[in-house]
Amino acid sequence: MINDLEELRGEAVAELNQAETEEALLSIKTRYLGRKGLLTGLLRNISQVPPEERPLFGMRSNEIKDILAEAIDKALQRMVLKKRDEALLRERIDVTLPGRAIRAGRLHPIIHVSREICEIFAGLGFSVVEGPEIELDYYNFEALNIPKDHPARDMQDTFYVEENIVLRTHTSPVQIRTMEKQKPPVRILSPGRVYRPDSDVSHTPMFHQIEGLLVDKGITFGDLKGVLTFFVRKVFGEDTAIRFRPSFFPFTEPSAEVDIRCVMCRGTGCRVCGQSGWLEILGSGMVDPEVFKNVGYDPEEISGFAFGLGLERIAMLKYGVSDIRLFFENDWRFLEQF
Ligand code: FA5
Ligand code: MG
Repeated sequence: MINDLEELRGEAVAELNQAETEEALLSIKTRYLGRKGLLTGLLRNISQVPPEERPLFGMRSNEIKDILAEAIDKALQRMVLKKRDEALLRERIDVTLPGRAIRAGRLHPIIHVSREICEIFAGLGFSVVEGPEIELDYYNFEALNIPKDHPARDMQDTFYVEENIVLRTHTSPVQIRTMEKQKPPVRILSPGRVYRPDSDVSHTPMFHQIEGLLVDKGITFGDLKGVLTFFVRKVFGEDTAIRFRPSFFPFTEPSAEVDIRCVMCRGTGCRVCGQSGWLEILGSGMVDPEVFKNVGYDPEEISGFAFGLGLERIAMLKYGVSDIRLFFENDWRFLEQF
């Protein structure tokens, strides 16, 4: 009988050595050590063992049971480790491969310039407001002292939506809308799109302006010059030469256009500045008393200045772009340079 035990042990060990899967190991465990297993079966027949051999038989069978149980557990553990190693190998990541770059979008150069300008004026206490692009004739023209049939209307060609509704030709109507809503003092900046039926290297049918308006007691042309000079130097550099050139707008009196020394030729004269050495960047002036009357302000009590600048013009000068249409062609070879 003892021999049977040893034989059983030998078979079990041989089978264990050949087992390659977890399932095979578990079935060996059941076959030998389970309740109806072979080893258990031998023990159950202990009555057939001669009495003097029984203690040895019992001891040895328990030993074998422990040895087999331990061997199976160890084999199972090895199997788990092997599985994990295989998985690690299979799922291996090659960290030396180049990553997949995410092509991030970026802000349009006009938006960049707009934000930069808004920040400069925010530092002077101006707050940003917006107005509608589809505008009443009244706000775009009449309240700004440009009556119907007035020759000044020819200064700005206009897209009409209906007889009294236009695509705004400038951001100046936001001046009126703001003053109608609040009492002085006023200190606002208003960026946005405007429209005119123009198209060449320096004009597009849609472009951007930023309007500025400051109204308070005792505001003078000196304030206008100080604020605009500060702004121009912030954008184009401290040593930028600047001049205020007398001009005309129906909604300001006196009016001035601001020129800066040509950034391309530094004043010697070139194609960009039309050989003049100067470039116009904005229109400005002291708010006309007629405009104050239209919004119910008393021109005897307060005064103010306003300005309107072309954003594309400033972006062209800042980045050295010679054709305004490039901004709106959406060619990424152009756009990705900013
Ligand atoms: C005006 O639009 C006035 N509202 C500005 C103003 C505001 C004056 C407040 C006084 C007080 P003007 O038409 O000159 O003015 O336009 C202002 C700027 O817009 C110009 O200097 C120019 O830079 C730009 N601009 C005008 N037309 C176009 C166009 N078609 N394409 C691109 N930029 C343009
Ligand atoms: Mg002009």
